[in-house]
Amino acid sequence: MSSETEKQGPFYITTAIDYANGAPHLGHAYEKVLTDVIARFQRLQGRRVHFLTGLDEHGQKVQQNALARGIPPQQACDETAALFLQLLRDLGISNDDYLRTTQPRHKNIVQQLLQQLFDAGLIYKAEYTGFYSVRQEQFVLEKDKLEDGSWPEIFGDVTPVTESNYFFRLSRYQPWLVEYLNTHPDFIFPKFRQKQVLEFLKEPINDLCISRPKERLTWGIELPFDPAFVTYVWFDALVNYYSAVAEKGFWPADAHVIGKDILVPPHAVYWPCMLNALGLALPRQLIVHGWWTISGSKASKSAGNALNSLDLAKLYGADVFRYYVIREMNVGQDSDFSAEQFKIRYRTDLGNDLGNLLNRLLNMGGRYAAGKTPDAALGASPEPPERELRELWAATAPEYLQLAAGYQFHTALETLWNFIRAMNRYTEHRAPWKLGKSADPADRTRLEVCLAHIAEGLRLTAVALSPVMPEVAAKIQQNIGLAPADSFAGQLDWSGKCAGATLAEKAILFPPVEEPATEATTGTQQAK
Ligand code: MSP
Repeated sequence: MSSETEKQGPFYITTAIDYANGAPHLGHAYEKVLTDVIARFQRLQGRRVHFLTGLDEHGQKVQQNALARGIPPQQACDETAALFLQLLRDLGISNDDYLRTTQPRHKNIVQQLLQQLFDAGLIYKAEYTGFYSVRQEQFVLEKDKLEDGSWPEIFGDVTPVTESNYFFRLSRYQPWLVEYLNTHPDFIFPKFRQKQVLEFLKEPINDLCISRPKERLTWGIELPFDPAFVTYVWFDALVNYYSAVAEKGFWPADAHVIGKDILVPPHAVYWPCMLNALGLALPRQLIVHGWWTISGSKASKSAGNALNSLDLAKLYGADVFRYYVIREMNVGQDSDFSAEQFKIRYRTDLGNDLGNLLNRLLNMGGRYAAGKTPDAALGASPEPPERELRELWAATAPEYLQLAAGYQFHTALETLWNFIRAMNRYTEHRAPWKLGKSADPADRTRLEVCLAHIAEGLRLTAVALSPVMPEVAAKIQQNIGLAPADSFAGQLDWSGKCAGATLAEKAILFPPVEEPATEATTGTQQAK
């Protein structure tokens, strides 16, 4: 999120488009949330945003699965699309567009670009003999074999295949790409991933096979210059980022958010070279997140454990899930999803720290201030506890924004929670419930100042937290009698905005959650 703005138009951000051959899982959910948080930060900072996500519908696996179920592939994709669209709603994702690669707007552009490359002599036909992995939908090489001569598990069945195919002159762009990466050190976040790409590029790369003969695969976009072939699914899928906005003029993208498994070669090699060959600008940045594991295993559907995490999202609500994944994961590193830890954060960070603070304010505001935040001359020479609290906020706000700008959202939240905890300590120190009983007018002033400080601290917290927990932020604002802030501008400084605002009678932001008993939870409880 650098402030450098080279192009007109909105901040254009994308997620990877999900494969239509399986149901949504934690990995998909996380990527949407992460991208949504970045998009919301940008909007609050005054940027117009265009946020794209979508579905990758073509390819052998989709065709095979549909065949096995005896339904047309399009029907299978429609069913999957419904699940993913529901996921977006369940997670409070603010995407502006949803692209499906079977849509005409996409297919037309893919064909247009293929024709352009073909006409420029950058696509040629050749006979190829090699080993083909159905699972990975790619040719594999001798060097990919394990020491014992067998193929690694991830390739599934590998069969020898000889066929004519079309190739994109990828290898021609290798020197240019190396140069580009060397001169654009911030192209890939985090930086160590860019080094991995350069490592990969130390070996010569082959031209890219961009077609599949229709005898093997029909579920794809037909090559415009040879109807006997469809387009290789990665060539088709990557183009989504461009096809979705080609007519809007939003290209290039500011950020593609993807997982580490699809960086090399698709996003870091194929895509930049394709764009360069087409004379199109490169995206400004690839933001590469790590993988979620569940107790050490990948959070994919085949591991059979991914549902639990999304069940928690349903049970506890989108914002709680969003908070958990953003608080736990250091973008770029892997993280382990733990239901235990999820519940601990719910009870402590959310319930005890944030929820309780709001509760206290509403409670005492009702008891001692007629349900309104006192207008307690916030600027007048504060006593040390108030001064310290304001100083802490003055340090917290810029740090929070800076960490978020560097995608360090987990530490940004930690910083914000230090402030929330300091407010709880401040409240205990001031003990307004005691001040309320005192007959001394100075204590009456202290009480009013204290309530005003808690309200203002909560207002600031809600504004800062809103990209991560938009619903909770809106609820806090509503409960302290304010309208939701749709911009950070003028909202993150200590102010008197809460003075006189009506406090709700009570609010329970994070109520106890009744969980249906499952084997897994009973098991953990017994083990303790
Ligand atoms: N269809 C391709 C992407 C094409 S983009 C032009 C694809 N789809 S996917 O459904 O397998 O993955 C979609 C995204 O989810 C990818 O960015 C992937 O890295 C991410 N994740 C899938 N499983 C994941 C975890 N267990 N953890 C975190 N993210 C992971 O790849």
